[in-house]
Amino acid sequence: MYIELALKVKDKMKNADLQKRKESAIARGQANMAPVYVDRALNAEIWDVEGKRYIDFGAGIAVVNTGHNHPKVKAATLAQIERFCHTCVMVSPYESAVALAEKLNAAAPGNTPKKSIFVTTGAEAVENCVKIARAHTSRPGIIAFNGGYHGRTNMTMGLTGKVNPYKIGFGPFPSDIFHIPYPNDYLGITEEEALADLQLRFTCDIEPSRVAAIIIEPVQGEGGFYQASSSFLQKLRKLCDDHGMLLILDEIQSGFARTGTMFCHEQAGIEADLMTTAKGIAGGIPLAAVVGKADIMDAPIPGGLGGTYGGSPIGCATGLAVFDVIEEEKLCERATLIGKRFVEHLKALQADFPNIIGDVRNSGAMIAVEFVHDGDVNKPYPELAKKLSAKASENGLVLLSCGIRGNVIRFLPALTIEMEIIDEGMEIFKCCFKELV
Ligand SMILES: Cc1ncc(COP(=O)(O)O)c(C=O)c1O
Repeated sequence: MYIELALKVKDKMKNADLQKRKESAIARGQANMAPVYVDRALNAEIWDVEGKRYIDFGAGIAVVNTGHNHPKVKAATLAQIERFCHTCVMVSPYESAVALAEKLNAAAPGNTPKKSIFVTTGAEAVENCVKIARAHTSRPGIIAFNGGYHGRTNMTMGLTGKVNPYKIGFGPFPSDIFHIPYPNDYLGITEEEALADLQLRFTCDIEPSRVAAIIIEPVQGEGGFYQASSSFLQKLRKLCDDHGMLLILDEIQSGFARTGTMFCHEQAGIEADLMTTAKGIAGGIPLAAVVGKADIMDAPIPGGLGGTYGGSPIGCATGLAVFDVIEEEKLCERATLIGKRFVEHLKALQADFPNIIGDVRNSGAMIAVEFVHDGDVNKPYPELAKKLSAKASENGLVLLSCGIRGNVIRFLPALTIEMEIIDEGMEIFKCCFKELV
């Protein structure tokens, strides 16, 4: 009865009306990219409340790596809901949390024995890395990167190296955080420059013996999909070892098969001291984890870490199914194939528009295209990225923008996306692009 009524009401819903209600009910700070309200979704497709279909190149910002409503993932979620939804893992624990921690510990790159903790969001995972690093080293300082993004809580805003929109009006931020350049071939920032700047921080701001950790995204997400080279990550690893600092890899966006390996820093052959995971971990159920070397993870005293919802049974049961699907459907390999397919489309477009498409790059299925004026890397074209994502939405395609300069479109499809859907979506992308330039 209630469902029938809800369906009738929904039949009459219009995106424009919902957007009006949204604007009066939800604060503008929590903005939405397009006034499109979702009714249902399947794998890499979404249908809105007006019945219009969209191809989804965002996957909820790299969350549903196994696609919307993957049958096995959905079944695991529903089976858990049938049994119980919440007891609090710190009060009455359950096997799925232990099993998922075991899976994470085994999947984290490197041979040192690992332990995990569960929290609810990516920002919380980053915050907890800082807590653990400080408890282990008894040092306060954290080195982060220009263009990095680590979340919207106070500590993670402080670590984030992008002001607009994440930091405007929200200071003061925590002290003892210092930012250095992120090496970037396209923007002409070399590894040597980044490391020289770090030495300058040690001269001007904080002595290395007061630095607890360096935190880095192996591929900057919100910052624009720039990947740190293996050699840079290896140099950071050595530098941390030399100075007794920890190396934290933020794999929140790049993790769970997204870049062609389970975690991206595996490709550099390094082992993190601590690693953050969230997003792709549990098919859309809010769950996040810190995974790290066991002795470091055990530095905080019992009760020092946790939270009411951290490691929810629904999230853990779903996360176990996500692990299975990644393995069974070989999603690491698929991420690589997906990346290739997107890059083929984008490079063909770049050949026709070399003055506007400054760069096409990818790390597996983290794919980006960067817009400039006159083929000049120093003349970013953010208006095009903004207009293109709006136009794509009107034409049935979900696109996300990003970039320290706002001039990048990023593609983060489900790793289960069909190749034909990629081609169909890229045709929409190309048509919209050509209409705008
Ligand atoms: C690299 C990285 N770190 C941290 C976060 C914050 O995660 P959450 O939004 O779940 O708090 C994000 C989210 O986009 C991210 O991409």
